[in-house]
Amino acid sequence: METKKIKVEDIIALKGIRKLTMLTAYDYPLASLIDQSGVDMILVGDSLANVVLGLDSTTEVGMSEMLHHAKAVTRGVKRAFVIGDMPYESYQVNPQESAVNARRFIKEAACDAVKLEWFDSCLEATRAIIESGIPTMGHIGLTPQTAAKSGGFKVRGKDAEAASRLIEEAVALQEAGCFSIVLECVPDKISEIITGKLKIPVIGIGAGVGCDGQVLVTYDLLGLYPRHTPKFVKKYTDLTARIQEALAKYKQEVESGIFPDAAHSFTIKQEELDKIKLT
Ligand code: KIV
Repeated sequence: METKKIKVEDIIALKGIRKLTMLTAYDYPLASLIDQSGVDMILVGDSLANVVLGLDSTTEVGMSEMLHHAKAVTRGVKRAFVIGDMPYESYQVNPQESAVNARRFIKEAACDAVKLEWFDSCLEATRAIIESGIPTMGHIGLTPQTAAKSGGFKVRGKDAEAASRLIEEAVALQEAGCFSIVLECVPDKISEIITGKLKIPVIGIGAGVGCDGQVLVTYDLLGLYPRHTPKFVKKYTDLTARIQEALAKYKQEVESGIFPDAAHSFTIKQEELDKIKLT
């Protein structure tokens, strides 16, 4: 496997050559494992709010939580391209503040790029971040930070008008200078149109096989987030069951005196033991 650090030019150049892979990570051990697996991009997603912090909405995490976890992720990564997800209200206030917050992901957390979700005047923030030299990924379709206020957690682009709007948004993000976009919960035929229209890679989540690449929340594919599983998630393993099994075994072995055994204990020479004067 290629061990050289992946750059933004590599991601763009892979469009049409082979499918790109992206997964989320929020901590050092999973980031290292994902990196070693050869996945191209790691997103420190604001899904952190739900899958790690047990919150109800991604709008409940801010810059400090995102940077804290992004730093842990980049410590574990040698190869993959790492993208920090801009949290709610870190890029909606004004373009200058957006660029300052984006820079923190690069300077303080050693990320390679940032991602931001579409909202009505997001292009100004997107341009300000890109003009300050930071590779930026857009995100259209279902955008969880604003979904509750704009139609709920449903598939987007289901009629001609909504699909045309999505196509326009994708083109606008490319023209603003994004190196890639995420397309979330969109009918597969619309994803194919967008993927065919753009020069930059389109990474799908619940957007069918026609995209240039795919992203999933890692806890979902590992079966480690039982609260909610969207239709588009494929569980590649069931870590919940495996962890439950291990925890039950630990409890049973401690209670019955099987653990710790000699292999997991330390010894002292008898002569040293004999010198101890017990009062
Ligand atoms: O925060 C996240 O995990 C995301 C992915 C679902 C793309 O934005």
